[in-house]
Amino acid sequence: MTTSTVMLKPSAPALPPTVGGMPLIGALPRLIKGKFDFLEAARQKEGDIYRLDLGFADAIVLCHPRHAQHVLLDNMKNYAKGGAMWDSVRTMLGNGLPVSEGAFWRRQRRMIQPAFHHQRLMAIADQMVAAIDESLERWEPYAQSGEPIDVAQAFTHMTMNVLVRTMFGSELKAGEAEAVGAELTYAIDFMLRAMMTNSLPAWMPVPGRARYQQAIRVIDEVVFNVIERGRQEKGAGDNMLSMLLEMVDEESGERMTDAELRDEAVSLFLAGYETTSVAMSWALHFMTQQPEIRQRLQQEVDTVLGERKPTMMDLRQITYARNIMQESMRLYPPAYWIPRTAVEDDVIDGYHIPAGKMVAVMSQVIQRHPEQWEDPHVFDPDRFLPARSEGRHKLAWLPFGAGQRLCIGREFALMEGPFILARLMQRYEPVAVPEKVAQMHIGLTIRTKDGVWVKLNKRGE
Ligand code: HEM
Repeated sequence: MTTSTVMLKPSAPALPPTVGGMPLIGALPRLIKGKFDFLEAARQKEGDIYRLDLGFADAIVLCHPRHAQHVLLDNMKNYAKGGAMWDSVRTMLGNGLPVSEGAFWRRQRRMIQPAFHHQRLMAIADQMVAAIDESLERWEPYAQSGEPIDVAQAFTHMTMNVLVRTMFGSELKAGEAEAVGAELTYAIDFMLRAMMTNSLPAWMPVPGRARYQQAIRVIDEVVFNVIERGRQEKGAGDNMLSMLLEMVDEESGERMTDAELRDEAVSLFLAGYETTSVAMSWALHFMTQQPEIRQRLQQEVDTVLGERKPTMMDLRQITYARNIMQESMRLYPPAYWIPRTAVEDDVIDGYHIPAGKMVAVMSQVIQRHPEQWEDPHVFDPDRFLPARSEGRHKLAWLPFGAGQRLCIGREFALMEGPFILARLMQRYEPVAVPEKVAQMHIGLTIRTKDGVWVKLNKRGE
């Protein structure tokens, strides 16, 4: 070796390219204005992995299914539910299932899982349909008068009613759905603001904190009343809640404390209705915008069910209904990103992921990735037909997440959605209100901005 030869240490992998904006406030204003178009444009320019500077924080945005595979499955131990977003969710859910971790999470998941087993879902299918029917009664005056109905609002009532009946063994009292809906809207907006101001000194007041505490109290009160009524009405052993009350963990021999039960009940309640309601709202938006889709669904429901109530066995037959729900959640996944924090340094696609850095598995962008989806922005339920799904990455569609933290309510929701569509189509033909086309609102979840308005024609008239 000559003295002029220098042995270079292999260079450490670089951070992903940064998508920024103005000093201090970063890309946030452009993100708020451009919404997903901004994230998609950034992907096209920088590639499937980039750093997003939001001013108050920065995150590494992951836009390819192989990244989801890495973070949620292959190297999941290195990606925890830490960071500003989860901290703000914890102020509401305490240590409930979506936010707990480690041995405690494992114990809670083990205890709650039986409430979602296939047999348990079979047992509650009738109750589910009854709850849907009950809420649909409230739609009737709109069909009679020809006035448009905001189905986003109506689905909130419906999905909450389904949850309360099937999981909590109770019924929803007048005004409860509306109260929780309004408080949760406030709470979610507050959490988003709190998350953004997380980097401010702790003494700095976040406007609205007292109102936020009030929102949590209202939600708690409704959940506690529902629990109490469930206890009185049905007795033990008949629903998920009484199961949780009685359950002793096989491995540890422990029961849940009242505080743990509160956190799990509020978590299941909040995770269980809003997401499904949002998915159904968008499904109706697309079906009314593309009437040929509504007509095909109508045909399927007429052929398979006629006027009879759907059962679990019918789910295998009403596949178009399921595909509509899947496609709606592909374009607008209610939980549009899955945030995690890297525990230790890692490397993704050759880029350095430093310990402590937030990564965002961006489901919404992944689910429109042109490499995985043909005409990715077109609403086309048939893309979920088996023949057209061949060769697609198994995490190209991940509205329920993946890996050990996969949504516990996945099968519940995939049963509820098609049941809702079937019962709805048996009664009504929903049509668009051209002057009121639904707009998207991004908060912690994707919602509709001012609702989804449709007119209801009665079937057979
Ligand atoms: C269309 C409807 C739904 C969507 C899109 C949805 C989405 C999700 C997603 C993406 C996750 C994973 C979050 C993460 O990995 O960080 C999750 C977890 C969870 N979901 Fe759902 N969900 C839905 C319905 C439900 C229902 C009906 C329930 C309960 C009745 C429920 C309860 C939960 C719970 C408890 C978790 C936490 C699971 C854990 O970490 O062990 N979800 N959901």
